[in-house]
Amino acid sequence: MDTKDSILKQLTDMKGKFVSGEVLSDALGITRTAVWKHIKKLRDEGYEIQSVPKRGYRLDNSPDLFDRSALVSSLHTKTFGKEIIFLNETDSTNNELKRLAAGGAPEGTVVIAQRQLSGRGRRGRVWSADEGKAITMSILLRPDIAPANIQAITLAASSAVARAIEPFTSIKPEIKWPNDILLSGKKVCGILTEMTAEPDRILSIIAGIGLNVYQKEEDFPDELKETATSIALNSVGPVSRSALASRILEEFEVLYLDFIQRKSTAKFLDIWRSFSGTIGCDIIVYQGEKNWQAKALDVLDDGCLLVETADGSRKAIASGEISIRKVK
Ligand code: BTN
Repeated sequence: MDTKDSILKQLTDMKGKFVSGEVLSDALGITRTAVWKHIKKLRDEGYEIQSVPKRGYRLDNSPDLFDRSALVSSLHTKTFGKEIIFLNETDSTNNELKRLAAGGAPEGTVVIAQRQLSGRGRRGRVWSADEGKAITMSILLRPDIAPANIQAITLAASSAVARAIEPFTSIKPEIKWPNDILLSGKKVCGILTEMTAEPDRILSIIAGIGLNVYQKEEDFPDELKETATSIALNSVGPVSRSALASRILEEFEVLYLDFIQRKSTAKFLDIWRSFSGTIGCDIIVYQGEKNWQAKALDVLDDGCLLVETADGSRKAIASGEISIRKVK
């Protein structure tokens, strides 16, 4: 056991009582400054440790256990998560799953990482989250549908996430087309769906989900402070990443299987609409150098957004290289 774990064990064994810095430093043969440094590391990992002068340190709360067995024990699915690869570190869970998919991994395989070294977002952006504070997971799908239908899958994923997180949040999640999940107007979850296909056949789809769970405001970099949020900042009580991740997998599996079996998007599109923060709004559509104003009317069966432009004509837009912003 390393020194940090020994300190944690001593604090845990005291069951909510204080342990002095002196007792810890004597027991471990290190200086009190070294004890303090380890306490700081534990706090960075999510342990809530009180420090009171002359009394020492007290463990008030431990981060939730988020590992393979905790997740497996709370999961009730048929195929999603039957294979779970739980990693401490990888470049990107989407990349890792792509490699596994190329090697024949079955539908429903899930990759989760505590830390991504090159997490990717949509439109070539970087996706980063501090270790221990988020859920970064990817799910492998092998649907027998035409490649043109991939956008429907992204909408199923965002509907599932919105449904899964709602019981944990004090306000209703909103989906910004196509698949950003917002709480109080700030982004809590992003989804990156990637496909490998032949002209008429999908080989695999990887749905990568990045959900901010424990971040406090100061954890977000300055450029994201105004636009990003976490479940913890909007929660109704304690949050467990295992519970959240299993809920997401369960909801996603139900919507996905319904879509595949009935060849109908009706079920999840109704759910998507019920969480939509886009339909009915005036929006600006950004397409390359161009941008134009429109009103968002509905989401179509193929996942495209139906909009009405300023001259009254209707247009279906696919997510691809397009982004939208609400007119305030
Ligand atoms: C976005 O909103 O831009 C999409 C963000 C998707 C991030 C997730 S985290 C898990 C998976 N692995 C990645 O590299 N990206 C996705």
